This record gives sequence, structure tokens and C-alpha cells, in this order.
Amino acid sequence: MIEEIRSAADIVAVVSDYIELKKRGRNFWGRCPFHTENTPSFSVSSDKQMFYCFGCGTGGSVYTFLMKVRNISFVEAVNLLADRSGISLPEKEQSPEEKLARKKQQRLLDILAIAADYYQKNLSMQSDTAPAITYLKQRGVNGRVIKEFKLGLAMEGWDYLNGFLFQKGFAQQEIHAAGLVLPREKGDGFYDRFRGRLMFPIIDHRQRIVGFGGRVLDTSLPKYLNSPETQLFQKGKLLYGLSSAAVAIRQTGYAIIVEGYMDAIAAHQYGFANTVASLGTSLTKEQVQLLKRFSREVVIAYDADAAGEKATLRGLELLQEAGCRVKVAVMPAKLDPDDLIRKHGASAFKELVEQRALPLIAYKLEKEIAAHKIGTIEGKVDVVNRLLPDLERLDNSIERGQYIKLVAARLDLAEEAIYSELRRRSGQMQKNGTNRDKKEILRHNMDDDCPVALLSVEEYLLLRLLEEPEALDQVQDELGQDVFLHEAARDIVQVLQEWMGLNPDPPSPAALADLLPSGAARDLLARVMSKDKALGGSLQDLLRQIKISRLNKQVEERQRRIREIENVGDLELQRQLIVELTALQREKEFLKRSKQ
Ligand code: GTP
Ligand code: MN
Repeated sequence: MIEEIRSAADIVAVVSDYIELKKRGRNFWGRCPFHTENTPSFSVSSDKQMFYCFGCGTGGSVYTFLMKVRNISFVEAVNLLADRSGISLPEKEQSPEEKLARKKQQRLLDILAIAADYYQKNLSMQSDTAPAITYLKQRGVNGRVIKEFKLGLAMEGWDYLNGFLFQKGFAQQEIHAAGLVLPREKGDGFYDRFRGRLMFPIIDHRQRIVGFGGRVLDTSLPKYLNSPETQLFQKGKLLYGLSSAAVAIRQTGYAIIVEGYMDAIAAHQYGFANTVASLGTSLTKEQVQLLKRFSREVVIAYDADAAGEKATLRGLELLQEAGCRVKVAVMPAKLDPDDLIRKHGASAFKELVEQRALPLIAYKLEKEIAAHKIGTIEGKVDVVNRLLPDLERLDNSIERGQYIKLVAARLDLAEEAIYSELRRRSGQMQKNGTNRDKKEILRHNMDDDCPVALLSVEEYLLLRLLEEPEALDQVQDELGQDVFLHEAARDIVQVLQEWMGLNPDPPSPAALADLLPSGAARDLLARVMSKDKALGGSLQDLLRQIKISRLNKQVEERQRRIREIENVGDLELQRQLIVELTALQREKEFLKRSKQ
């Protein structure tokens, strides 16, 4: 079934849903969605139904791609692809446990949807002078957004919702699992979690109500109460308002992120339908991945208080790391977007977001200027030092030049001074870099048990084995049962062997990828598959080269030990090592000469 679904969809078409691909040679190329890059090094092969990024080394099958790009499990990826191709998965594909779990989850979703309806009805039945209505009026929330965001009311009382749901036939345990009731401290039974609160249903990107936020109607605390974290409701993976904002984000080409429920609602009411809120936590990687499915351009409009600023900076870093283009709309002191819109109108917010939003570096520059005494030389040096890493990261030299100009102007420095600091820094980085590489190589040579990289010849051998698994016997005869020491390569050989035990034909690369136990093994497989077999030479040649390189390692190891014991003066051991060394070198010479 997994194969059937795979073959019904071409990986090139699926990847094209997410990034732009152009054909060049045998493969399709685009900009990698898994790391930031300006030149395309992400390749997709239609023949092999695999992808591989030459920039970051990520690779795998169409399922791997979907899992990574949408942040979903293998099973979800299969379902998604089946949906895309209009294939319906037969019920029997699910194990009894899966069926049960799915049924249970559906019950919870039903409860949450019914609860949302119930809260909505409560609100709609309030008289014009009731506290909830007065409150909404006072905050300027109109009927359209009340409907769109399905706002509701939990009445003041201990057993309204619980009684209602119980009467609808739901078990107490289910209502509890949905996060809507709490167990009584004294005695048995449960009581409503949300009481006397304005209710904000939280809807995921699949349009399902997965939880609630509830706000008090006065100044009592806690101001907001949220559903407890459950399998369905994970605040760090949700964005409030996304289901209403998705289309607008695609249309306008960017998303606005705010902090609060009320900010998102005000923004939508006043025409910024591309707004989402981050649910009170600071932005998470998962939220960034979720948002990235809709747009890579993001404007952060967090509160201007200290907490908001901290959250803004963290959010900026995360978004930037994920390859988004981020700007910051700096709110006037003490105002959040909701206050700003209602006090100064939509046009004030529009101007902040569309004209005055600062790109990352400009924002950081302003923060650093505010934090340092830039009247002093030390202050200027500090600010420049803090910005160097960000300036360095810009690979577009025009853009970099613009920012250097800006920094120089704001700090009253010569541009050349900043350029020379940048050069000095990149010189240092390179030095450190080469040192690190050397260390890596040293470690590699000493650590025989777990080499960090496969040799290039070994990659060609692996490619060979993937195409002619029947050669495995011969290879094992010559190189030993464990053909590779490298863990990811061993994983691939093991899965390949298992496959060959059960199937007459070798696996397709994509099918093999989906059976591999680790991402590292999938990445390696994709890298190996992207190579040209012809460049590897004959099997005999490959085996000979690998043997020579392994002998080399053994020779080096003996030489190292001989040097080590020179000072100790253990003549017997020394003699024995020299005998071994001579034998190894003779074997190596023989192999070298044996090339026809
Ligand atoms: P108001 O305008 O005061 O109604 O709220 P807001 O939407 O401006 O929210 P605020 O900026 O105060 O807080 C941002 C977000 O943090 C809220 O939307 C909630 O998600 C969350 N939050 C705020 N206060 C609380 C609280 O007391 N408890 C919990 N759990 N979350 C809170
Ligand atoms: Mn507010």
C-alpha cells in the first residue's frame, strides 16, 4: 500500500508544492527548504524518486520529505500523500490499537466541538446589558469576528458544561481527557474548568477545535486560562488564528505574528487577516515550521515591554534560522497591537507593519544602541561587535553594504572601519575552522571503531551494492562480514540484506529509504544515490582501494605505537610491531602492484 501510494505521486510534483524546481540535466533543482541558501543545491530525482541536498546533506524519499517539511510522522505522511492522490486507505491497514486510538481521539474532538458550540450559544443568548456583551462592546469587538473566531461564554457555575456533555452521552473520563473539567478535591466527581470566562476556541491548521483559552471579564487573575496540554492541544505547536489567516497569508505574501488572542482578533477585525498569535509562549521551532508552510515573510508585532522584546529577539533568531525573512514592527511604548489599532486606527498599525518595520539587523542595531553609551568609543565598539555575526551572515554583498552604511551612520563611524572588523573576524573564523578540521581528521584516524565519515571509495562500493545486492557475498568474503565500520552504512547494508532475504528483486532507493532506522542512514543513502556509478570503477578496483586504505590505517597505527614505546624501551613489543608493520607493508605493495 505504501508503495502504491508512493508510485501514484511523483516526488517532483510533491516537492513542487513547497518549492520551485527547475530541470537541469537528469534532475530537478531548487532552493533547499531545510537550510538557508541562495543558490539551489537541492536535487530531486524522478528516476530514483529521491531527494538530496548537496548543501546540508539531507535526503530521502517523498515520505521523508513530507515528514520533514510538514513536521509530521511517517504514518501522517503516508495519509497525506494518499489524500493528495485521492487514494483511500483501507480500514484494515490500521492495527486494532490504531483504530481504537483514532476513535478515542475523534470522541475528544467531538466533545471539544460540542463544547465550542455550547459556549457560542451561551454568548448569543446574553442580553445586551449582560457583563460579557458589555465587555466585548467596551473592547470594540464586532459581531463578525465574534462569529469568525467562534468566541463564546463559559457561564459562572460549577456544572454547566459538564452536565451538558454528560447528558449528551459522554463519559466523565472522556470529558476530563478533553481538558474541560477538573476532579473535585473533596469527594467524587468533576467540575467545569472554565467558569465566568470569555472563551476563545483554538483551532489547528486542519480546522479542528483542539482546545480553549478563557479570559476573565474583569481584572481578576489568572487573566487567561488555557486547556491543559494533551496529545491534541500542544501550545508550542499551534498558532492562534492560523485557520482564519492561512489564505490571507498566502495572498499578501507575509504573516504578522502578535502575542495575544485579543491582538489577533483586533488585527483581523481591522483588515489584517494575515495575523496569527503565538499563544502566550515564546515562539517555538514547531510554530515556525507551521508558519513557513504558508509564507517565509514574517513581521513580528510583539508588545513593547521587556518580555515582548525578549520574545521578539528569540523569535527573530528562530525564524531567521528557519530561512524566513523577518521584520519587526516596533510598537509604541505600553501599547500592544490591539491597543494601537483601537487608539490610533488601522492606518497606524498598517504603517508600522508595512512601512516602518525594521529588518533583523536594523532592529538589533536599535536595541544595542539603546543598551550602550554610543557617545563613547567603547560603546560604539561594543555595538559593532554585537552586530558583526549578523552582518557576516548576509551573503548578498549589496545588502551587506547597505547595512554597513546604516550601522556606520547610526554610530557615526567610517564604513571602512566596519569592513575591516568584518575581514578580521572572518580571518579568525577561518583559522579556527581549519584547526577544527585538523582535529576532526586526527580524531577520525585514531578512532577506528566508529569513523565519522565514509571514504569516498566506500560510498561507491555502497552504491554498487545497492544496485547489485548479489555482490554482497563476494564483498563480505574480501572485506569481512562487517563490510563497513561506519554506522549509517552498516544500517543500510543490514536493511538491504533483510530485504533480499524476503524479495527476489532489489528494493527501489525510495523504498529502502523508508525502511532505514535513522535519518543519518537516509541522508547517506540519498548522497550515495546522487553519485555516478561509472566514476567508481570496477568492483575489483573498489575492493582493492578500500583494502589499501584500511591497510594504510593499520600501518599508521603500528607506526604510532612504535613511536610511543620508543621511550619505554620494551624491545620485545617493538620487535613484534615491526614484524607486523613489515607484513602489512608487503601486503599493501602486493595489492598496489596487482592492478591489471
Ligand atoms: P488582553 O488584551 O489583556 O485581553 O490580553 P492580550 O490578548 O493582550 O494578551 P497579553 O498580551 O496580556 O498576553 C499574551 C498572551 O499570553 C495571551 O493571549 C495568552 O495567550 C497568554 N496569557 C496572558 N496572561 C495569561 C495568564 O494569566 N495565564 C495564561 N495561561 N496565559 C496568559
Ligand atoms: Mn491586550
